[in-house]
Parts: sequence; structure tokens; C-alpha cells
Amino acid sequence: MEGYTASAPGKLMIFGEHAVLYGYPCIVTAVDLRMRVGVKLNSGPSVEVKTDISPEPFILSREQIERRVDVPKEVSFVIVAVRRFWEHFNLAFGAEITTKSEFTYSYGLGSSSAVTVATIRALASAAKVEISKDTIFRLAYESVKEVQRGDASGFDVAAAVYGGLLYYVSGGSTIREIRSDSLPLVVCYSGTKASTVELVGKVRQLHRDRPMYVDEIMTEIGEIVNSGEAALLAADYPQLGRLMKRNQNLLAGLGVSTDVLDTLVDSALVGSAYGAKLSGAGGGDCIIAVSTAENRVATVDSLMSADVPNAKILEVATLAEGVRIEPN
Ligand code: MEV
Repeated sequence: MEGYTASAPGKLMIFGEHAVLYGYPCIVTAVDLRMRVGVKLNSGPSVEVKTDISPEPFILSREQIERRVDVPKEVSFVIVAVRRFWEHFNLAFGAEITTKSEFTYSYGLGSSSAVTVATIRALASAAKVEISKDTIFRLAYESVKEVQRGDASGFDVAAAVYGGLLYYVSGGSTIREIRSDSLPLVVCYSGTKASTVELVGKVRQLHRDRPMYVDEIMTEIGEIVNSGEAALLAADYPQLGRLMKRNQNLLAGLGVSTDVLDTLVDSALVGSAYGAKLSGAGGGDCIIAVSTAENRVATVDSLMSADVPNAKILEVATLAEGVRIEPN
């Protein structure tokens, strides 16, 4: 039987992390590191999932998929996506599913959302059903929320589906493209994997303890997002940088930055970046810095001479294309 491969991009949060969970907008770009998912249907009774995390495939019966059997997280995104796809289209089938990642799970670049989105896109082609991007978004967002069992705005799912640069409100109530020709970022992995669930919980706790303090910060972040959209549309990199610095200070005020992230942000600024901030939940993962062709080398050199032994520059292009079917 014919096989289909779909791929979906990772993401970087530009402005608005955490605040997006409190009703404010955020801005996200898709990046050109992609998750690939191949799907081949068969007439067998099970779904076989091959991943980079294990040499052995995970073989699951329809009954195991329907009753949400326990599997490693990386596999559960695929399995839950299959079940949601079956439910939506009133189908069930045997299949061989293979996932391949161009980036590690530890960078915090949205591999879980990307694999979920690519799975649904490849399933639709293999099952010969029409599917719109909006339906892919809905099914993938429901799947990701189910696996993560926590707060999730879905901004990473939107980046994986639609690609480019997006203005996004939680749950997908607004998903709007910001037209931009270039977004020159230096991306540096901090060497530490962060737990989004833990950091979101930490900010929720702070909100319970000091609601006015946190609400004020969230309101300011919301304003930065709106000014950020204007700066992005105007390709005004000095202004973009200033806004990133402000957003970083506010995130530090929420307690989600770390010494390592602060050191990397400072080093990027010493290396004449226009601005820099953590990207994502904080606690680790990546920082982003606005650096154009003229100051990129200085920014990279400064980051690499920072006292952060496991820091690593990630060569990623922004404004990547959303989910797509790949030629076989
Ligand atoms: C994590 O990458 C960003 C958060 O805003 C969570 C979310 O939006 O789902 C902290």
C-alpha cells in the first residue's frame, strides 16, 4: 500500500510566553527544523510506531489505542493523534508509522506539536480524506492537551500547522499571519532542558500569591506583543531588540529566567545584538537574540565565550513553511 510522508516545523516564541495563558496574545515563528512522519496503511489489526527513541517499534492494538495505553511520551503524541483522527473521520485501520526528527526533544523547539501535526497530515493523505489546516489544528491541539494534561495555549501547534510568523491568542481564537520577509535571530541552546509544566505551575502559584503583581506584568507583556507586531512589520530591528529586553526583564520578574539564561542574554547584548530574551517557558531551553548580518558574528562569538559550558548555537532559519506533504 502507498505510503505518505508529512513534515511540520518547530517553533520559537518571539514575545508573550506565559502571558498567552492569561488571555494575552503572543507572537511565534516557525523554524526550519522539521519533524517527519511517514504513514503506510495496512489491513492488519495493529498500529506500529517506529521512532528515534528506541530501536524496537511500539506495536499497539486498536483496543490499546482506544483505551489510552501507557507508552513513552514521544509515542503517545502519535497514538493520541491516531485515535483523534479515527474518531473525527469515523475510521480505524492498521498502519505503520515512522517518525524522524531533525532536532532533539531537549531544545524546547516544539517537537511534540510538530510530530502530532505531521502525523495527522500524513494520516489524512494515507486514508485519502480531505483535511483543512483548521481541522489539523483542532485535532492536533486536542491531542497535545490530552497528552500534556496541563495548560497549553497551542501556539506551537499553530506554528507547526500554518508556519511563518503568527500573532496568536490561546486556543486559536485568533491566528493571524504577520507578513515579514526576514527575522534575523541568533538562537542559543542553554544546555538545560526545561519542564514547561513545572514553570507554568510556578507562575500560576505566583499569580495565586501575588495576583496584582503578576497581572501587571502580564498586561505589560501584552503591550509588548502589540508593539512587537508593529516593529516586525516595519523590520525595525533596534526597536524589536528593545522590546525583547523589556520582555526578558518581565519574564525574570515572573521568576522563569535562570542565571544561565541571564548570562546568555547579557552575552548576546555584549556581542552587539539589538536585544535578547529567553524563548518558551524559561528554566532552560533556548535564548533568542536579534542580530542582523553586520552583528551576527560578534553575537555568536560573545555567546560562545560566555561561561556556559553546554551552550550551543542552533543554525535555524525563521519564517519556515507550515505542515506539508513531502515527495516520496
Ligand atoms: C511555553 O513554550 C510557552 C508557555 O506560554 C506555555 C504555552 O503557551 O502553552 C509558557
